Amino acid sequence: MKAQLVLPAAGQGLRLGAGQPKALASLGGRALLIHTLSRFAPLGLVRTAVILAPAGHTETYEALLGEFFPGHACTVLEGGAERQASVERGIAALEGETDIVVIHDAARPFPPEQAVREAMEAANGEYDGATVALPCADTILVGDTEQLLRHTPERRYMWACQTPQVFPVAVIRAAHERARTEGFQATDDASLVQRMGGRVKLVHGSPLNFKVTSAADLALAEAVYGNALA
Ligand code: CTP
Ligand code: MG
Repeated sequence: MKAQLVLPAAGQGLRLGAGQPKALASLGGRALLIHTLSRFAPLGLVRTAVILAPAGHTETYEALLGEFFPGHACTVLEGGAERQASVERGIAALEGETDIVVIHDAARPFPPEQAVREAMEAANGEYDGATVALPCADTILVGDTEQLLRHTPERRYMWACQTPQVFPVAVIRAAHERARTEGFQATDDASLVQRMGGRVKLVHGSPLNFKVTSAADLALAEAVYGNALA
């Protein structure tokens, strides 16, 4: 089984508001991008990783990768306007003999290794893909446009989506092509596979696999990293 990592890191980080792409934000003095990538080193996924960068930042990313992962042949490509477009560019650039693709947000610096391995096994086995996700501790309320409670789905079926999401290459390419043709946008990739009838396994993630979105999340990530909690 040959696996490749695609790391969408082409977002602007507007909600973080640091005036630079979020993947370049400093965590313990080092770019978020480097932290996140280094978690995939024990899985052998850094060498052939495909990394999406915002327009105008590909060279900065390449220089960082050269500094922290010398001798690795990572590919940096310009991403698209939305995450979905960035991922589609990434999966188009995979090597010909790759069986499965591991898609992981650069903005999640603490992916749990065991869950990543489980998701890879599921996508290489009997499923059309797998996503790391967290069973919801809170009851989820579905509201409407007037902020009125519409519906309360049963909590035991609720999962908060995380990454990585792992798929056979042919499956995820077909799902992206179909979504683009039909004008369907999602904020993750597993949903694109599910909507064309694919069986996607939910793999238990971790609360520490949170996405750095706001300044508070970055402060939390500093605490996690500083105290070696993940
Ligand atoms: N992403 C991407 N290409 C885009 C938008 C997002 O590759 N056009 C990536 C981000 O870099 C991030 C992941 O998708 O690693 C999740 O997106 P999000 O948390 O929304 O990051 P940003 O888009 O950077 O943040 P914001 O929405 O606050 O601007
Ligand atoms: Mg975004």
